[in-house]
Amino acid sequence: MIYLDSAATSLQKPAAVRYAVLDAMAELSSPGRGGYETAMNAAETVLDCRLALADLFCMREPERVVFTSSATHALNIAIGSLAGPGDRVVISGYEHNAVWRPLHALRADIRVAASPLFDQDAAVEAFRRLLPGAKAAVCCHVSNVFGYILPVERIAALCREQGVPLIVDASQSAGCVGLDFDRLGCAFAAMPGHKGLLGPQGTGVLLCRDENVQPLLFGGTGSESESPDMPPYLPDRLEPGTHNVPGIAGLLAGVRWVAGRTPHELLHHERGLMELFSRLLEASPRIRQFRARDSGTQAGVLSVSIGGVDCEEAAARLGAEGVAVRAGLHCAPLAHRTAGTLETGTVRFSFSPFNTADEIRSAAAKVLALAG
Ligand code: ALA
Repeated sequence: MIYLDSAATSLQKPAAVRYAVLDAMAELSSPGRGGYETAMNAAETVLDCRLALADLFCMREPERVVFTSSATHALNIAIGSLAGPGDRVVISGYEHNAVWRPLHALRADIRVAASPLFDQDAAVEAFRRLLPGAKAAVCCHVSNVFGYILPVERIAALCREQGVPLIVDASQSAGCVGLDFDRLGCAFAAMPGHKGLLGPQGTGVLLCRDENVQPLLFGGTGSESESPDMPPYLPDRLEPGTHNVPGIAGLLAGVRWVAGRTPHELLHHERGLMELFSRLLEASPRIRQFRARDSGTQAGVLSVSIGGVDCEEAAARLGAEGVAVRAGLHCAPLAHRTAGTLETGTVRFSFSPFNTADEIRSAAAKVLALAG
């Protein structure tokens, strides 16, 4: 199979990730639950992962790296900490349902900073117009549908000027587009462990600027056990219950692999594959590509529509031919509304550090045959 669905989850991982998960299941128990060897080793693994993530995202304080079960979980904590019913929250026109639905459930006053696809200046202007009076803002770093890299540094600067806390959804960028959390000055950044960080499913991370956060879950932490309240400090405040130690051990191996190659190098590889694929697909006038004019604003994701072929049917036919892709709305109807593809959806091809140019040529030949 040619796996081109890494924007959903990375399937090919470094072997070290698999070994770390298996070893953890055999040898590690729970951090903070005892002074015996397997508990202490588990605590060390969890701390090492926190340190590796703090390093990768340029954070001075590793205790502000919080483990969650997913990016969705992390975003729910961040959103619930900053917004409530009736609060104006400005979001980009590319947000995933992991942002839109929690805000809707909170009955927040959601304002979409709509701007044309791949137009960074317009995105900044749209935020500038809507930020006054906002309680919070949310912006994805990279669109999961189109690979569009949003200008989060410029949007973060605007938010700082206006005193509006910003949540960055780094789900699609973590591991392949650099993020300097301390310099960005945002309130939170949320990400999954199983995409670009190459860890297992069931892992997520929330980077927090300060300790003033509302827990989503309440329970035992192994600290301050005499109190009915969650501990006031991080990470304990947001990490009740037993940690996903095998997941975190796998994530540590993934983060170390990514840090060794560097996100910059991985983006170069993935973008190079996206450009090759795009050039090959240009052979068919029936294929509409959603491409940035300047590759600097697009990561390793390409969405297309194929004239006359329903996107779900195209994905199913490609799947039958051994090419794994995702079609439809990709849980991001706002992004499709922005791009004008809400009615049709798109077929999304997303590339990973493990894809090769030969795979891309072979997949492109199958797509061209499908387009007819
Ligand atoms: N958000 C994931 C995707 O884009 C699951 O497919």
